[in-house]
Amino acid sequence: MAHSHSDPSPPATPAPGGRRDFLSKASGIAMIGGLAAGYGTFAHVAGRYLYPSKKDTSGWFFVATTDTFPPGSSRLFQSPDGAKITIARQSEDLGAGFLALSSVCPHLGCQVHWEGHNRRFFCPCHNGTFDATGKATGGPPAEAGQSLPTFPLKVEGNLVFINLALTTADAGPPPAAGPEAETR
Ligand code: FES
Repeated sequence: MAHSHSDPSPPATPAPGGRRDFLSKASGIAMIGGLAAGYGTFAHVAGRYLYPSKKDTSGWFFVATTDTFPPGSSRLFQSPDGAKITIARQSEDLGAGFLALSSVCPHLGCQVHWEGHNRRFFCPCHNGTFDATGKATGGPPAEAGQSLPTFPLKVEGNLVFINLALTTADAGPPPAAGPEAETR
């Protein structure tokens, strides 16, 4: 009885010509991939230019004049996106004497106040305390290592400004930003 002859299995490695074809195709695909990545990067950069994201936009907001902002006092300020900020004047120094920090306690979100006489920020909800730079020093925020975020601030002449994120035009008119009220 004759054995039926089955088809030989394909060679484990491609023939020399096949390998060249394979390498040629592989390098072609790699080149197309590189071009696509290059164009993708270009499109991404162009998109950021044409449609800047919220995170890329910020502006300087007037806070107060230095003569109405004595050492030891502070102001509350609301950013266009609703963030509550405390600006404290901690000394006579017109540069380093001012500091702008989030006035929202990182523990559970209560309002933090600057205590000029104690040179600290204080959260009355659970007696959270922060030093003059916003570093947590007591209460739940210190236990969790939660300090107060700071905002860039500058003094030009006798004008105090802070730098805040701006809302984009398609998000509708931003709420009015500005000083809310003087705290202590
Ligand atoms: S919310 Fe500020 S310490 Fe708890």
